[in-house]
Amino acid sequence: MGLSILIVLTAIAVVAQGDTNSYTCPEPSGNFADPVTCRRFYQCVDGHPYETRCPSGLYFDDISKFCTFKNEARCGPIATTPAPVTEAPIDLAVKCDLANCQLPHCYCSKDGTIIPGGLEPSKTPQMIVMTFDGAVNVNNYDKYTNIFVANRTNPNGCPIRGTFFISHEYSNYEQIQRLHYEGHELAVETISVEKGLEGQTYERWAQEMVGMKEILTKFSNITGEDMIGMRAPYLKPGRNAQYEVLQDFGFVWDSSVGVPPIRVPVWPYTLDYKIPHECKAGTCPTRSFQGVWELPLNAHHVESFEGGHCPYMDQCVLFNHDPDQVLEWLVEDFERHYKQNRAPYMMPFHTTWFQSAELEKGLIKFIEWARQQPNVWFVTATQALLWITEPKPADTLATFEPWDCKKRTVPTQPCNLPNKCQLVFRPPNGPSSTRYMNTCFDCPDQYPWTGDYDGNGQEETEIYNKQNRK
Ligand SMILES: *[C@@H]1O[C@H](CO)[C@@H](O)[C@H](O)[C@H]1NC(C)=O
Ligand SMILES: *[C@@H]1O[C@H](CO)[C@@H](O)[C@H](O)[C@H]1NC(C)=O
Repeated sequence: MGLSILIVLTAIAVVAQGDTNSYTCPEPSGNFADPVTCRRFYQCVDGHPYETRCPSGLYFDDISKFCTFKNEARCGPIATTPAPVTEAPIDLAVKCDLANCQLPHCYCSKDGTIIPGGLEPSKTPQMIVMTFDGAVNVNNYDKYTNIFVANRTNPNGCPIRGTFFISHEYSNYEQIQRLHYEGHELAVETISVEKGLEGQTYERWAQEMVGMKEILTKFSNITGEDMIGMRAPYLKPGRNAQYEVLQDFGFVWDSSVGVPPIRVPVWPYTLDYKIPHECKAGTCPTRSFQGVWELPLNAHHVESFEGGHCPYMDQCVLFNHDPDQVLEWLVEDFERHYKQNRAPYMMPFHTTWFQSAELEKGLIKFIEWARQQPNVWFVTATQALLWITEPKPADTLATFEPWDCKKRTVPTQPCNLPNKCQLVFRPPNGPSSTRYMNTCFDCPDQYPWTGDYDGNGQEETEIYNKQNRK
């Protein structure tokens, strides 16, 4: 059932072509019931309607604005009163309301530390989510894949896997396609990874996020429905604008919000209600985003604060440690999760970590140690979410379908001989230069960038149209 939740949540990304000229958006943006059939709805962006079809078997619920099962769908259009109760009910998110927040669509708890499904810690799997930010290329591909050797497995015998947040510049799209083929999760950072994006507009975030997804589809053959996660550069969330784009363009979750060092780590939550902890970056969303999941980054630290505290593993000061000391530090940090509420242990890395042989060896030691502990699973961010939306006791997970690699649809194998494209890069502000880009697909005319993600040299100002032309 877990997968159907994601289908429900990603339904807004599935866009059908059709004559949309006759429909007038009642408001510039939002999702609106099709007056003719409950199987369709219109997604309005800047006043322009895009006809969208619910996945097969599902119907549009005009109250929750999601596609859902027939007996749950309240078919529209449902008239809204002048001060609509259902439309934007909350301007500023309010505190967690347990009575109105139920899994699988909503999850919150008073201080954010409660285990979903009311499970005891001993009955809860300890999920470890390894993530890698930025470009993937020859400088880090082998280091990353060395972690994920075939015999390094989870309790169900499947090889451990991670989540990659891709940014565009210097990325190798053949290697990225291979990561996806091997069973890793691909997610979106941004095209430019520019500083200051947190203050940018909806349009700019759409260019960066939807554009990055388009590049991955075009040059790594990854379908949009396989990329449903997002992380803001430098963990600076883009206030409400980033989350509006996330909701409008078929993303399901975000993982950009840092949590200050606290005694008990927080679990992922939906953004229906107020964030249950201090927002470290200061640029978190302020309004409610129904059904959008946040996988927060609990600060890593040990009790003595030796090494400091950090959201990214490579930001703690462990560079002068030998592998055994790195292991010891990681074990203490991990046990704050494992011995308390088993909140997912996020391990976010930049490529920097792998420039130190000591840190690299310490990490491998930690993985081997953790694999020996009962009920520890290395999963992707989306796999973690699939457990959270449908919590199951730890002793039943050997057959938990979302974690079973044998149940996975394997994408097409990447080519053996990628095109090595030599391309002119024309950044908007700055001199032209050359970039190399490997892909199994045809070389574009120039280096793709925001506004021109297919690299045909023509500016794509209407990114929404492009997105919806699929
Ligand atoms: C995996 O296999 C390699 C080579 O066969 C071996 O050296 C290594 O110890 C194995 N690792 C695990 C985790 O079993
Ligand atoms: C791209 O992916 C689709 C769907 O998985 C597949 O049918 C197609 O053959 C792939 N194309 C190439 C060139 O790999």
